[in-house]
Amino acid sequence: MKIMSKIRTAFFCQNCGYESAKWNGKCPSCGEWNTFVEERVLKDIPHKQADWKNNDTTSPRTHKIINLAEVVTKDEERILTPDNELNRVLGGGIVAGSLVLVGGEPGIGKSTLFLQNALQLKHIKTLYISGEESEQQIKMRADRIQNSNEQFYLLTETSTQTIFQEIKKLQPQLVIVDSIQTLHSPFIESAPGSVSQIRETTAELQRFAKESNTPVFLIGHITKDGSIAGPKVLEHMVDTVLQFEGDQHYAYRILRTIKNRFGSTAELGIYEMTGTGLRQVTNPSEILISQREDLLSGVAIAATMEGMRPLLVEVQALVTQSVYGTPQRTATGFDLRRLQLLLAVLEKRGGFHFGVKDVFLNIAGGIRVEDPAIDLAVLCALLSSYEDNAISPKICFSGEVGLSGEIRAVNRIEQRIAEAEKLGFEKIFISRYNKKGIDFSKFHIEVIAVGRVEEVYQRLF
Ligand code: TYD
Ligand code: MG
Repeated sequence: MKIMSKIRTAFFCQNCGYESAKWNGKCPSCGEWNTFVEERVLKDIPHKQADWKNNDTTSPRTHKIINLAEVVTKDEERILTPDNELNRVLGGGIVAGSLVLVGGEPGIGKSTLFLQNALQLKHIKTLYISGEESEQQIKMRADRIQNSNEQFYLLTETSTQTIFQEIKKLQPQLVIVDSIQTLHSPFIESAPGSVSQIRETTAELQRFAKESNTPVFLIGHITKDGSIAGPKVLEHMVDTVLQFEGDQHYAYRILRTIKNRFGSTAELGIYEMTGTGLRQVTNPSEILISQREDLLSGVAIAATMEGMRPLLVEVQALVTQSVYGTPQRTATGFDLRRLQLLLAVLEKRGGFHFGVKDVFLNIAGGIRVEDPAIDLAVLCALLSSYEDNAISPKICFSGEVGLSGEIRAVNRIEQRIAEAEKLGFEKIFISRYNKKGIDFSKFHIEVIAVGRVEEVYQRLF
């Protein structure tokens, strides 16, 4: 029943979710321009109607002042999934009553990842709510993953009211919503995917998760600029934000923790998309380094860290004579400005003439590396291609390069060295400043400490 007089409109910033009675050119909250959109909302609807319980019982929690010392903590209940990558990223399994948001570009494999996990949790009654695909489509995907589970239930529905009715009947132990942008609450007038809808439906699901102690996963699309479509408030409302990323043209996918109330945000899970679903990658370094017999110039291996995990990646560079007036610089998986900076360092400190060369840089495997310790390998790959002189595949590098050509120390050097040793490398180049307080005698790999770019060059070529 809709009563016209109760309908009101408000303006919402599409970036941060700020609500205003009038239109603003610039958002007073986040400072973005032209982000206000008018949305229709209903006036003062008591929220308990939308609640999953649908009755008047008040929350069992009583609020009174309590001395912190009297608060009893108990270990969080966690559901361990057979997927160790997911467990790790969540900080050790799915926390009861937690609300987890998973973002990722369309087609990256979010639905596959959660369908697959739900199908593997044989003893957990799981409800998968899909607003995007039909039962047949999901069944086809499940067949492709080659897994079935008697405790797996499917609901293709987008109205939160109906969803909560069904949840009340089924009493699931885990709920997955694919995707939050398709849901709509009957208490809000605006279209699914709008700021006010996303905010309201998430709030309803949050209440459900907390009051019933059921974990809820929300799948969300991200926009071109990489943020989860919908307001930033969404990220504040949930306990954990995960991001699923990767290059569409490669099989590798990375699940990253952006925010986690129950664990570290430095965690990372790696998967490979196969013809039968996602496969956990337990030893990522081995696949990220291409197997090769012959020596190629322009290739250098970097000992990087992705979160808490050491990861050896291959850097490929191609330096050729420029045929046009302005030399080209292209980087895939590495920051272009950082590449330009390294080229300037080589030009100025090493006297190399990159100004007349086209430079192409690629990180193998389609992954993106943010760790500054990759600098040294990038620099050596560039030099190797410039000189057309191959670097032995038994050598790897870990160091940041400063503007004056100095090799700077990086964090967790021991872990990096240990990983390189484990993978059979014979030499690793690190910064001289990383030597302090570390006992290198325990390593069998030869550790070469260098202070400047010139030293590396002399040692290599
Ligand atoms: P999907 O999970 O639908 O992505 P999202 O939910 O993030 O939009 O996965 C999309 C892609 O994954 C699609 O291009 C097909 C591919 N895929 C495989 O390669 N192997 C598989 O087993 C499955 C299920 C999907
Ligand atoms: Mg999907």
